[in-house]
Amino acid sequence: MPRQTRSLNGGVYTREQADRGAKLYKRFCSECHQPDEFKGYLRRWVGLPVSYLYDSVRSTMPQDNPGGLSRKRYADVLTYLFAINGVPTGEQEMGAEVALLDDITIEVPADEGLP
Ligand code: HEC
Repeated sequence: MPRQTRSLNGGVYTREQADRGAKLYKRFCSECHQPDEFKGYLRRWVGLPVSYLYDSVRSTMPQDNPGGLSRKRYADVLTYLFAINGVPTGEQEMGAEVALLDDITIEVPADEGLP
């Protein structure tokens, strides 16, 4: 596993990026998924680098066209899933470079946005 130096809770994406991700989600994912499905989803990934989650989604989704989006778009969609899970936003967008995604550890925020 790559050595990670940053936390997902450290503000690794922006609100604008998650809004873009929401639009992509609507277009490419919502036919099969309700956003609520992904509340709490990050718990399963705690301690792992974002790159693992990224590769998992990219290699399997959309189920009818795996890998069908650009790398940047997968990053944007992921940030929407972060937003659903209450992950705090920051000043910089999350890029799609492997080295960057390897560096961020998935952690669950204290307030996950769960009811
Ligand atoms: C054509 C239907 C379809 C589309 C479109 C689709 N998915 Fe899926 N997705 C599924 C099915 C069915 C599963 C469960 C089976 C599996 O894991 O392969 C799944 C599973 C998942 C999982 C794993 C959930 C879990 O509980 O482990 C994630 C994350 C996910 N999808 C994200 C996405 C994202 C993000 C998109 C849009 C880029 C997307 N999916 C588009 C059908 C779809």
